[in-house]
Amino acid sequence: MISSYGLFCLMKNNKLFVLALVVLFIVQLACREQIKQTDVNAGTVQNDSAASCSQETIMDPNQAKPMALMMRQMVINADSMKQRILRNETLDSLQFRFIKFYLVEPTDPNVLEPNFFEKSRLHQAAYLEMFKHPKEQVKYYNLMIASCVSCHQDYCSGPLKRINKLPIKL
Ligand code: HEC
Repeated sequence: MISSYGLFCLMKNNKLFVLALVVLFIVQLACREQIKQTDVNAGTVQNDSAASCSQETIMDPNQAKPMALMMRQMVINADSMKQRILRNETLDSLQFRFIKFYLVEPTDPNVLEPNFFEKSRLHQAAYLEMFKHPKEQVKYYNLMIASCVSCHQDYCSGPLKRINKLPIKL
């Protein structure tokens, strides 16, 4: 025989049991939702990696690969060099050290092929050449930017719009 107190306890336990079931159900739903969300995110990341090259920026900057981050710094540096040249200042190779972007992980590993490394080499050469001609900075700066364009025509046309604003118009 169950005393009225016992019955009360049982009910209370049942309530707890039901509550626990409800909580479990919600947690499970939440997990499924999470998984879906992750799938969606994975999709976005993939789209964005293509987008990093077809568009200018990646939606979530935290997802950017080291090469993309270096490229962003390269644009900032190029713009800063342009401003200096326009102010008739001599570029300092120590201030604008060459960034070895070709050694780090890109968003799309397929770019790491011989032609990419050849274009990297040509770009590095054009970049270093720039500092050797303080009297012809405009010319050699523009050649350096042309080597950015040359690689971007093959691998990553999205940022071209932005890169094409970098040359100094004579
Ligand atoms: C040898 C090839 C090559 C050269 C040279 C090169 N780039 Fe890039 N650039 C790439 C590749 C590949 C990516 C995509 C990187 C990634 O998503 O990881 C990229 C990405 C970029 C991006 C987009 C970064 C972002 O936000 O995702 C910009 C802007 C950019 N480059 C500017 C430049 C500028 C400016 C120069 C010259 C100073 C330059 N690039 C030289 C290959 C090159």
